[in-house]
Amino acid sequence: MLRREWTCIGRLDEFGLAAAGHASPNRRAVVCYLGESVIVTADAAGALHAFANVCRHRGSQVVPVEPGIPAEPCSAKSLRCPYHSWTYGLDGRLLHAPHTDDIDLDTSRFGLQTLHAAAWGGFLWLTEDLEAPAVVDALHPVPERVRRYPLDTLVVGMRLTYSVAANWKVIAENYNECYHCGPVHPELSRLVPAFGDGGGADLAWDDGIPHRDGAWTFTVSGTTDRAPFPDLDEAERVRHKGELVYPNLLLSLSAEHVAAFVLRPTAVDRTEITCDLLFAPDESAKPEFDPSDAGDLWDLVNRQDWAICESVQRGMTSRYYTQGWFAPMEDASADIRRWLLPRLERHG
Ligand code: FES
Ligand SMILES: [Fe+2]
Repeated sequence: MLRREWTCIGRLDEFGLAAAGHASPNRRAVVCYLGESVIVTADAAGALHAFANVCRHRGSQVVPVEPGIPAEPCSAKSLRCPYHSWTYGLDGRLLHAPHTDDIDLDTSRFGLQTLHAAAWGGFLWLTEDLEAPAVVDALHPVPERVRRYPLDTLVVGMRLTYSVAANWKVIAENYNECYHCGPVHPELSRLVPAFGDGGGADLAWDDGIPHRDGAWTFTVSGTTDRAPFPDLDEAERVRHKGELVYPNLLLSLSAEHVAAFVLRPTAVDRTEITCDLLFAPDESAKPEFDPSDAGDLWDLVNRQDWAICESVQRGMTSRYYTQGWFAPMEDASADIRRWLLPRLERHG
């Protein structure tokens, strides 16, 4: 099912495929996509392409990647397999197979196996579904709701990584409700009292969630020297917003930084998580830039979430587990079933 959906891979600039919100031409990167090695290119015009990292000759990786050692992104005009030098264009077509000029080899039949790549919000997205709708349409209504946040141009100021012993859906579901915020996140609930009040009921996510008096952003103190993003409306300058961008991107939007969580399911009970704290480039370029005021709070809250998600995973695995009952303030978390079930049916 995940292979038929757009899934988020990470930041385009991390893969050298864009800089400052603009596509970088003639680049290639190798990414991990749902357990597969995938080559992503930006061609001479900056258009993105993606291919299985498997040579159509005898199956060598076109860009050899040893497990656990990522290939550095680099400039490229073509892709040459190291085994027998079959050479592919950045659009995946087989350009040249050495010593075959006198032989009847139809190169058009041996292009690299294609996936669908796209950019939105400064993130790289992939799907195996070549008929998938444009990513901006598939992610509706999120792009419209976060339009005043300059996601395209933000840069990673701090990266937190976690390996969590829980299914990715447990993590997504947890992100989608604040019934747990009072018991699990006492510090966060002091910063954002609405999260704890009434079991996190009636949170007006569309308008943003207010902080306690005197606080306006997600940092340990609730304030910071960094400036809010310039195009935010009045409420967004002092409130917090959050979006679960199905299936695997969680966006927490503060006035001056964004926490972007990419979930990578690696097993039924294991999810690798990258939490990038994204900042305006002019703020992160300042000599005094120090993202730890946000990073310390996020790391605390994240570890609280992952610990409880691992507890849920262990409990759900018990032979005594039965589905309970959704409280009214968990309505939003039930969404994951509304999202999942029609897709499971559609994709067989
Ligand atoms: S396996 Fe790639 S050229 Fe032979
Ligand atoms: Fe939480």
